[in-house]
Amino acid sequence: MENDFQTKITNVLVVGSGGAGLRAAIEVCLSGLSVIVLGKRTVNDVHTSLAAGGVNAAFANIDIQDSWQQHYADTYIEGYGIGDPKTIEIMCKEAPFLVNEIDKWGANFEKLDNGMIDQRFFGAHTYRRTCYCGDSTGKSILDALLSKSKSLQIPINDSQYVTEILIQNNRCFGAFSFDIYNGKKTLYLADSVILATGGNTRIWRRSSSRKDENNGDGIRLALKAGCKLTDMEMVQFHPTGMLSPEEIAGTLVTEAVRGEGGRLFNIRGERFMVNYDPERMELSTRDRVALANYTEIMNGRGTSNGGVLLDISHINKDLILKKLPTIYRQFIEYQMLDITKEPMEVAPTAHYSMGGVLVTPEDHQTGVIGLYACGEVAGGLHGANRLGGNSLAEILIFGRRAGISASNYSKQLSTHIRASSVIDVANKKVNHFIKDGKEIGRKLENEIQNLMWNFCGVLRNKDNLERGLQDLNAIKKRFKNLDVRVGYNDYKDLVVAFNLESSIYSAEATIRSAMARLESRGSHQRDDYPEINNFKKFNYHISLQEYDQFRIEEIETLELSEELEHIVNSTNKIKSFKGKLLE
Ligand code: FUM
Repeated sequence: MENDFQTKITNVLVVGSGGAGLRAAIEVCLSGLSVIVLGKRTVNDVHTSLAAGGVNAAFANIDIQDSWQQHYADTYIEGYGIGDPKTIEIMCKEAPFLVNEIDKWGANFEKLDNGMIDQRFFGAHTYRRTCYCGDSTGKSILDALLSKSKSLQIPINDSQYVTEILIQNNRCFGAFSFDIYNGKKTLYLADSVILATGGNTRIWRRSSSRKDENNGDGIRLALKAGCKLTDMEMVQFHPTGMLSPEEIAGTLVTEAVRGEGGRLFNIRGERFMVNYDPERMELSTRDRVALANYTEIMNGRGTSNGGVLLDISHINKDLILKKLPTIYRQFIEYQMLDITKEPMEVAPTAHYSMGGVLVTPEDHQTGVIGLYACGEVAGGLHGANRLGGNSLAEILIFGRRAGISASNYSKQLSTHIRASSVIDVANKKVNHFIKDGKEIGRKLENEIQNLMWNFCGVLRNKDNLERGLQDLNAIKKRFKNLDVRVGYNDYKDLVVAFNLESSIYSAEATIRSAMARLESRGSHQRDDYPEINNFKKFNYHISLQEYDQFRIEEIETLELSEELEHIVNSTNKIKSFKGKLLE
């Protein structure tokens, strides 16, 4: 029978056209191999374009005491000791080189009078080390990566929804996709595949991700390919998301607002951070500020809309317009509110997936041969709390490393798999989804977002997590009866169906990992286990077994090397990990 899909062949296939994917593809291309990048959003509008406040590198351009060692200590300690030590070391050592490189490629960071890159304060960094372009740093980095990719003629196909990574005998040989506009299916045969699909924070009701992005596609693809995930319970709630209008609730209000002097108040006019972290105040870690905002709101000291107030109106207007132009416009646009005169109403929002695919630190290889993962879809770097500005560093450093590793692997391959039975199953799965059913995809999507927000949100406990899992199981059953209709230039239902399946896998992995962690650590706060376990530190690895059963393993966190132990111990940071925050 004639195939109903087209076939394309490349050395390396990159799934995801955000910053990590592009940086990986550039490296593959520079190594002389062929590469294709696939994305499901228009190239200029991928999630990286939303990253606001900055990218970290210990240049010591302003605070001359800064060093990669201090960046290391900050990242490790503020991740509550469960981030992977080697991954953190690589990031802190390589960030200055990669940040300089992207600046030269056109990111064009803000400069000091002496021509060096300016650096601003971000929460819980000991020194000013966050390099920036106003409050649209991600967009500048993305534009630079796109222009470099263009000059190298890297093919980017931004209308491809990847449905399956093709695996035989734990070896990866490509991926299967359909075009989100016309439904045409494509088989991509590749020596190696890099997952750079972003996170899964859109599965919470209030999220800094937009509709149809960060649904957890990479989590679904990786689990089904046979990879392990790590730290899935560790979800970063950014303290300051917009509250209204409802359709954009959760949109990021960058930490740069607090970095430039913004202060948080409750409805009584109290600058409440003094009760939570009197030393660092609004520039405490994200987990602490998010929980502080949440506590104020839940204890009746929030606004009538359920927020707290973020005020920067004491700062000079010209400075606000120079350093925070996007936020200034965002509030005018959506609320007719002038932030140079009035406070913003904000509340926590699901912002970043710190957990993700388990990879080796040096080359970001997954447990599946020939399959790599980098950027937000990969886990390990951030532990229980990510420092703002570390993710843009992560995409550059580990995007590059994944590109190098995938190229090296591809170059030494002598035989290529082309398992037609595997391809056949992937193809049939797409066709199988298209059917008349009773359940509306968008409705189930909403229900997942609500249950994750209500039962697996900022503050968790056993009863709520169990309730969340129970509700999710009911949704899984209804998902089998989904109504998926496609027609001329209309494949939206199919996109929603795969997004939903991704959300279901991501939600279950998150809830099960959150149930396993019987303590409060960083962004994982449980009111039934309010203390941190100061005696043992664990990572939770989760994988998919037969019949879609999850298996969870408790793995003792890696010890620091003597050198790293010394670096952490000699830092002047607060060293006791405080699990519970007040009340
Ligand atoms: O608040 C922000 O600008 C976010 C930065 C980050 O998540 O790294």
